[in-house]
Amino acid sequence: MTQASAHSSPLQKIYSLAKPLLFKADAERAHALASAAMRAATPFVSRSQIHKRAYKIIFDRKVYSPLGIAAGFDKKCTAPEYIHRLGFGFIESGSLTPKPQSGNAKPRLVRLPESEALINKMGFNNPGLEKGWRSLRARLATCPRDYLIALSLGKGKDTPVERAGDDYVSCLELLAKDVMSEYLFYVAINVSSPNTPNLRALQTGKAIRALVNDCVTVSPRPVVVKFAPDFVSDKLYRDSLDAALAAGAQGIIISNTSTDHSIASVPPALKDFGGGLSGKPLAERARHLLALTLKHTKGKVPVISSGGVFSPEEARLRLDMGADLVQVYTGFVYYGPDFARDFLLPAPR
Ligand SMILES: Cc1cc2nc3c(=O)[nH]c(=O)nc-3n(C[C@H](O)[C@H](O)[C@H](O)COP(=O)(O)O)c2cc1C
Repeated sequence: MTQASAHSSPLQKIYSLAKPLLFKADAERAHALASAAMRAATPFVSRSQIHKRAYKIIFDRKVYSPLGIAAGFDKKCTAPEYIHRLGFGFIESGSLTPKPQSGNAKPRLVRLPESEALINKMGFNNPGLEKGWRSLRARLATCPRDYLIALSLGKGKDTPVERAGDDYVSCLELLAKDVMSEYLFYVAINVSSPNTPNLRALQTGKAIRALVNDCVTVSPRPVVVKFAPDFVSDKLYRDSLDAALAAGAQGIIISNTSTDHSIASVPPALKDFGGGLSGKPLAERARHLLALTLKHTKGKVPVISSGGVFSPEEARLRLDMGADLVQVYTGFVYYGPDFARDFLLPAPR
């Protein structure tokens, strides 16, 4: 967990002071407060040291920093501009479902400070595709071209799993009708959140093959599939990967949160909380799955590493391992607003 130092930005210093108080508040409320504060403060953040030259081209887009914000942080599709100013190269907004959803009952997000982890059972609370897309398209129109916005899609809570494909396809059809969707970085097909009943059934065999096949046919932008870290064996994961790639998936995100909470120190009161675990305890599994994915995809499609990126050094390690892009969520909450800046800047001597 970082402390502000002489090298920290003023925003990081303020965050370090406010963090003990923020961490006493309900986690979801603290997220809203911190986001509002960062939104208000970032117009005053200097971008002079960031985004100088393109890092590489991915999905036909110049990527200025390979470090982005993972899905779920910007469920309302309103964060891109301030995340951009903090130095991140991209954001994956959403996940959006076809209709608005309020998500599961609160509390549905808790911190495990000892483990630098979170457990969430949000359940896709989101404004729905139409409203979310309206908000994003306005931002796509005004954001500098060096900033990339991707969109994540999920299945509606009440849609039976056998009709799940309709949810993704109807969202993609709506996007495809709007020329502005051409500006999206990619579209993520989220089949791995643990908080929507049966969603993960879409990850395997025939289901993933059919889903990806339907999505690539209508999607205006590359279709990237996001998998869970909880496959029973590496072989089963490789089978799903094969099926997704054979059906035309143009990228892979590995991984989502884990239903295995034994990897963290969970207080007895939260034993039956359910939900998905994220943050530092996920790092080892995420590295293993990244290595497996890279070995299997052999550079054919971009691989995005997500899960347990708890420091700028860990983000660099994932890139050194071969990831094309890296995403962070929980690590950003624990580390603070300088995460992307410290990733880009050389470490102070
Ligand atoms: C509160 C919360 C909400 C999330 N919501 C989504 C979501 O809507 N869609 C999705 O694909 N992943 C979602 N995720 C998973 C993250 O995108 C990420 O894959 C996961 O947290 C692992 O990364 P981390 O250890 O850096 O947090 C969510 C994570 C958290 C903590």
